Amino acid sequence: MNIGFIGTGTITTSVIEGLFRSKIKVKQILISERSKKNSTALSRKFKRVKVMNNNQEIINKSSWIFIAVVPKVAKSILQNLRFRKNQTIVSFISTANMTYLKKTLYPATNIIKAAPLPTIKHKLGPIVLFPNNKKVTNFFNQLGKAVVASTEKENNQLWTIASTMAIYFEFCNTLEMWLVNKKVKADKARAMVASLMFGLSHTMLMSKTKTKDLIKEYQTKKGINEELLLRLKKAGVFTKMNGALTKILERITKAND
Ligand SMILES: NC(=O)c1ccc[n+]([C@@H]2O[C@H](COP(=O)([O-])OP(=O)(O)OC[C@H]3O[C@@H](n4cnc5c(N)ncnc54)[C@H](OP(=O)(O)O)[C@@H]3O)[C@@H](O)[C@H]2O)c1
Repeated sequence: MNIGFIGTGTITTSVIEGLFRSKIKVKQILISERSKKNSTALSRKFKRVKVMNNNQEIINKSSWIFIAVVPKVAKSILQNLRFRKNQTIVSFISTANMTYLKKTLYPATNIIKAAPLPTIKHKLGPIVLFPNNKKVTNFFNQLGKAVVASTEKENNQLWTIASTMAIYFEFCNTLEMWLVNKKVKADKARAMVASLMFGLSHTMLMSKTKTKDLIKEYQTKKGINEELLLRLKKAGVFTKMNGALTKILERITKAND
């Protein structure tokens, strides 16, 4: 099977890198020439990747098409492209709802919204999908953890959580810099923080204990974990986080209307 990507940016590059680390079998991957830097690098690295300078040709020659252009230009690009009824179209465009996609991609009806994150490059992280499609879900489960939304509303709620990537690294950087400012060597500080976060994430993935119970399990009465948690709760950090997430959901929902 041939698969095609309209738009060769950050996400397409990460998905293709992940794909070549996986057992997924594809005959050929057809990609847009733009961005030239990315398409050149990918075609040099993987001999099954072919750069095309015509988006319609990518569609004509592919069974599955991934739409990976930014929302600002998506409308003008998509309105000039013609799809076939039997094609599977996977849209990465965060702001495009199903009503719009069905209308624009007609006569194709096999349409799936997907939110791969840059972590897909290492076959890690969630890929939010809507609606469920057995083959597409199976494809993404080989590139990370497919999280299938039951409704478009739930899809937006799950996408909201993908907005936490930068704050996660801000959090890690705060811990690292706190150590560095105390004269701990930068590589030691980074190893400490990365290893702690990896261990905690691994515990969360492997353990059946509810997250709220892990909070209890990972603090001792009158211990330092309890003290830091109480200090941050008192400062309203987590209440503010809830409020900010609601704002992000509102933005995603509005963009999808
Ligand atoms: N990044 C994420 O974490 C993430 C997560 C989930 C979903 N998404 C969604 O995925 C989509 C792509 O995101 P991204 O981060 O990969 O964006 P990006 O890096 O800006 O990639 C978009 C690509 O589209 C290319 N392009 C522009 N006009 C084109 C045309 N006429 N034909 C073919 N390609 C064209 C751009 O090339 P030029 O540079 O030459 O303009 C660029 O390489 C967006 O809709 C975004 O909302 C992103």
